[in-house]
Amino acid sequence: MFIVVGVTGGIAAYKTVHLVRLLVTGGHDVHVIPTADALKFVGLTTWEAISRNPVTTSVHEDVSEVRHVALGRRAELVIVAPATANTLAAMTAGLADDLLGTTLLATSAPVVVAPAMHTEMWRHPATTANVETLRSRGVHIVGPADGPLTGGDSGPGRMAEPEQIVASALAIVSADGDLAGLRVAVSTGGTREPIDPVRYIGNRSSGRQGAEVAVAAAERGARVRLVAAHVDEGALAEASAHPRIEITRVGTAEELGAAMREAATDAEAVVMVAAVADYRVAEVADRKLSKEDGPLQTLALLQNEDILAGLVAHRAEGQTIVGFAAETPEDDADLLERGRRKRRRKGVDLLVVNKVGWNSGFESGDNRVIVVGADDEVVAEASGSKREVADAVWDAVVGVRSS
Ligand code: CTP
Repeated sequence: MFIVVGVTGGIAAYKTVHLVRLLVTGGHDVHVIPTADALKFVGLTTWEAISRNPVTTSVHEDVSEVRHVALGRRAELVIVAPATANTLAAMTAGLADDLLGTTLLATSAPVVVAPAMHTEMWRHPATTANVETLRSRGVHIVGPADGPLTGGDSGPGRMAEPEQIVASALAIVSADGDLAGLRVAVSTGGTREPIDPVRYIGNRSSGRQGAEVAVAAAERGARVRLVAAHVDEGALAEASAHPRIEITRVGTAEELGAAMREAATDAEAVVMVAAVADYRVAEVADRKLSKEDGPLQTLALLQNEDILAGLVAHRAEGQTIVGFAAETPEDDADLLERGRRKRRRKGVDLLVVNKVGWNSGFESGDNRVIVVGADDEVVAEASGSKREVADAVWDAVVGVRSS
């Protein structure tokens, strides 16, 4: 595939060297267009050596070949990584003051952008508005990831990893994978049960694992309906940029249940990753509770319906249903035993069980799970990034559906 990689002036440009290498070793014809600023971080020689193609930055070179539009016209995919806040603004405004700008205006190929900047710049309303505009024009935004930044600070703003950018970009152009055409419904995040207009009962779910389950499915060709309760900031960034993922936001367990029942009606696979509150407050106060009302003795709770059990009870013919369970077991044997009991109780085809504790499982990027299948066997064990775990879950679903 003829791929143009635009590189703009951020320190993450060094990671783009690896990204270009991944594309070249994948057999693609890669043409790098660095901006003048980008060359202050990584030199022209490196880009030429790694891409195995000549690199120009100026619209005034190869004028006879009309280079300023030729690359854009020939491109089957354009990736901009890293994209600075300035680049996002220039793209939004349609500025064409360098070769990358003219190429972006001349192309009709899918454009995938991997922003990288400090958290404050990413959160600035100007950047937020630019990203929204770009998305509305069909530009795919991958990342940014959450993590340590160059200034010693930490937060959303790190460029997504090259492997992730490549995987997302390639998935966007080719919709074939082992889940091609499969319709799936996924839930994620933690529900919030209101106590009064300002307070709620919630949980520590970050929503990242469910978002990865959705993105992994979409990248393998599935069409995904993602029902998301409360999630951490940035957790849905990639999912919301994916053309095959439709997101519905919900708050309470009741809302999540209604949205999932709807999403599951025509789904061939249903994966409940959401952390659903088992109880809700019996009487939600319509104004903020105050100590002036007298001491609050107890909060009466009512049990929420078991959404997963309901989905299993009304499952459509041939539908595969997967549950997730976070447990605090004594040891690995206890974890497996709890997983087996819960799978039987829920009646699901697969139960993905992991160990959580005060310091593990929730906010972290990594996860370690056991997948329990019908007949109580361990179908898969996976550890690593939440994406790797998500792929292991889909491998298990593919296994169930082909058996
Ligand atoms: N789940 C659900 N509806 C609920 C509670 C949980 O659909 N009211 C789903 C979760 O999305 C998850 C699976 O059931 O896929 C297991 O969640 P968990 O909270 O471990 O299940 P519980 O039945 O609440 O188990 P426990 O008795 O351990 O609280």
